[in-house]
Amino acid sequence: MKQGSLSQRKTGFLANFIANPKERRRTNLFFMIMVVVILAGVLFVYLYQQQLLAQDFRQYKGTFKQFGSIAQIGFYAAISIYPVFLLLKNKQIKGIKWGTIELKTILQFVGKLVRTWHVPIALLSTGVVFLHVYMAIMRGFKLDFTYISGIVTVLILLPLMYMGLKRFKRNDRKWHFRLAIMFVIIFFIHANFS
Ligand code: HEM
Ligand code: HEM
Repeated sequence: MKQGSLSQRKTGFLANFIANPKERRRTNLFFMIMVVVILAGVLFVYLYQQQLLAQDFRQYKGTFKQFGSIAQIGFYAAISIYPVFLLLKNKQIKGIKWGTIELKTILQFVGKLVRTWHVPIALLSTGVVFLHVYMAIMRGFKLDFTYISGIVTVLILLPLMYMGLKRFKRNDRKWHFRLAIMFVIIFFIHANFS
């Protein structure tokens, strides 16, 4: 192999998916934080297993529901990338201003913010939702609407994340977007109608 091509070779975790080194480092960092959140949760449950199993189910449910709620807020923040980018593409927003502040300038600022934090927030929320799921099924699995809709939500989240990685190089054939819409609808139903 030629020396030049060797030096240009992209190395590191996710190098095949994310070309921008800064973005790759950030994604790697938050991926590791997600793993730490999951491991800390598993350790916490292991250490407090006796107390958690002895707890009244309603009280216990209150705890794992909180993890679900935190993750829910995170997933809404992640999906906010869509309306913000949609508005930015809209030509009619040009010229709308309050005094000296232009709407487009505000949207560009928010757009940069949501683009930067989209993946980290999605990864953190996934770590938190793991705790919700782990604690939910630790006290038994029920074949009811809540448990089944929860499982379906997770089954959509996994390919959604994989397609998210492919989205960096636009190799996802719009599946990241389609799965994101399915995901939000199903978890909204799971969270609010069960
Ligand atoms: C990405 C996946 C998931 C998300 C975002 C999610 C989110 C939520 C949210 C926001 C709530 C309502 C919390 C509240 O009312 O304060 C909830 C409740 C619940 N979730 Fe999940 N969840 C997910 C997956 C799962 C899975 C896989 C299971 C179990 C197999 C599960 C089991 C439950 C249960 C048992 C409840 C309590 C419902 C009740 O009020 O009786 N969830 N979830
Ligand atoms: C590890 C997880 C994820 C990765 C790596 C990822 C990656 C990406 C990337 C690279 C983009 C394109 C941004 C741009 O155009 O500059 C994007 C857009 C988007 N993401 Fe994600 N994402 C992830 C998780 C999620 C989740 C959990 C949701 C839903 C709650 C979501 C919903 C969306 C939506 C709606 C868009 C805009 C539509 C599109 O451009 O396809 N993503 N994501």
